[in-house]
Amino acid sequence: MQVDLLAGTACRSAAIPRRQPTILVFDSGLGGLTVLGATMAAHPDARMIYAADDAGFPYGRLDEPRLIDRVMAVMERLIARCGPDLVVIACNTASTLVLPALRARFAIPFVGTVPAIKPAAALTRSGLISVLATPGTVARDYTRGLIQTYAASCKVTLVGSTGLAALAEAALKGDPVDDEAILREIAPCFVEIDGARTDVVTLSCTHYPLLLERMKRLAPWPVAWIDPAPAIARRVTQLLGPAQPDIPSIPTESLALFTSGAGLTGPLRIALAGYGLAGVDIEAIPLAH
Ligand code: DGL
Repeated sequence: MQVDLLAGTACRSAAIPRRQPTILVFDSGLGGLTVLGATMAAHPDARMIYAADDAGFPYGRLDEPRLIDRVMAVMERLIARCGPDLVVIACNTASTLVLPALRARFAIPFVGTVPAIKPAAALTRSGLISVLATPGTVARDYTRGLIQTYAASCKVTLVGSTGLAALAEAALKGDPVDDEAILREIAPCFVEIDGARTDVVTLSCTHYPLLLERMKRLAPWPVAWIDPAPAIARRVTQLLGPAQPDIPSIPTESLALFTSGAGLTGPLRIALAGYGLAGVDIEAIPLAH
């Protein structure tokens, strides 16, 4: 129970005062747009800010201490600039490592994105599931803990893709991406053991749903692909309360921020506008070498 600041009455569940909430959706690059879309659909009342640490991309190649330092430094700047009510870390590579430090440092809610191993284990019939992720995410203790806790009875194949996130970025920017290159990255997900085949693949990097239709077409056999975006949007709603239809209509300036902006091509700007991001700006945060 908490007090509704405008109405001066007590109300249930809304964790945020009755005004337009600001949601910051963060990723190393463009993958978090898949999460932004679902979150925006659930919260048309919110001011959305999408932040891509493109100066640090790809996170999959950074060692753990470096990645923690990087995300903490970038988040310090973004939170000071944007004043979000809630932050979505739309990046498995970061969430599986940095959430405890973020929650200890900042007094706002963080929603993370971690491999959907529990739903995959619930869904599989063959008992063979694959986790398609960055090399960083598959190496995490956190990911192994999820497998032990929720999928101990399954055969879990961890596939650390070195190139798929960059291919997804290229495709979104309108650059040509070969089918063979995509197939090479996803092929290790498809496992056959004693006549049983992988039947569930979790898309455990937020970039990968950007290529979902092509991955479905190229897959050696049909599988269920788990995109975590709808579950993340539901978690945001749990924390913020449902969208507020009666909110005073404040012009919503949804914004995309880049820490480098080096790859901001015309087609990318058009793609960002297609996600409802009206403005684009640079918050320059170079990666220390
Ligand atoms: N989109 C990110 C994830 O969910 C990471 C891609 C990268 O920067 O390596 O893991």
